[in-house]
Amino acid sequence: MDLEAKKVLLRKIPHGLFICGVRDGDSVNGFTASWVTQGSFEPPLVVIAVRADGSSHEIIQKTKCFSLNVLRSDQKDLAAVFFKPQQALGGRFEAAPFTLGEYGLPILDDSIGGIECQVIGDVKSGDHTIFVGKVNSAKLHQDGEALNLSTTGWNYGG
Ligand SMILES: Cc1cc2nc3c(=O)[nH]c(=O)nc-3n(C[C@H](O)[C@H](O)[C@H](O)COP(=O)(O)O)c2cc1C
Repeated sequence: MDLEAKKVLLRKIPHGLFICGVRDGDSVNGFTASWVTQGSFEPPLVVIAVRADGSSHEIIQKTKCFSLNVLRSDQKDLAAVFFKPQQALGGRFEAAPFTLGEYGLPILDDSIGGIECQVIGDVKSGDHTIFVGKVNSAKLHQDGEALNLSTTGWNYGG
């Protein structure tokens, strides 16, 4: 395979930027995720790829649920907080207060809104696990333009 061509072409896939939230008992965590898409209208499904060596992966595997928070186009700095290393699990939320949603998952107070999902399937292969989540709740704070990876100058993919 032409590896350079593969990289260039895969990086053409458009992505949003989201904060994925997880919770195991008293522990919460969140991380920036771009590999996210819708997978079905009815039932409403979303698909997310989660780094197998990240701290949130184990929590999603155990609890079988996650939230997805949709950032506004002016929240790039917050997206950066949520992919950088943190001192302790959940520490990134000091930069962004949250409320637990109907299903107990972190929903950022300042964002376009967030959904809570229950994992109904997964594909474990390679360095990310693909989780399919059924959307169980949706909280819209205020509609607006969402943050897209293409506007940030960052890359995740290839
Ligand atoms: C632009 C960008 C997009 C990212 N997208 C994803 C993603 O879709 N899935 C993922 O697991 N990690 C993604 N990451 C990496 C995680 O945000 C990062 O590894 C984070 O530290 C994981 O946190 P955790 O170990 O606390 O779970 C992305 C990073 C960047 C910079």
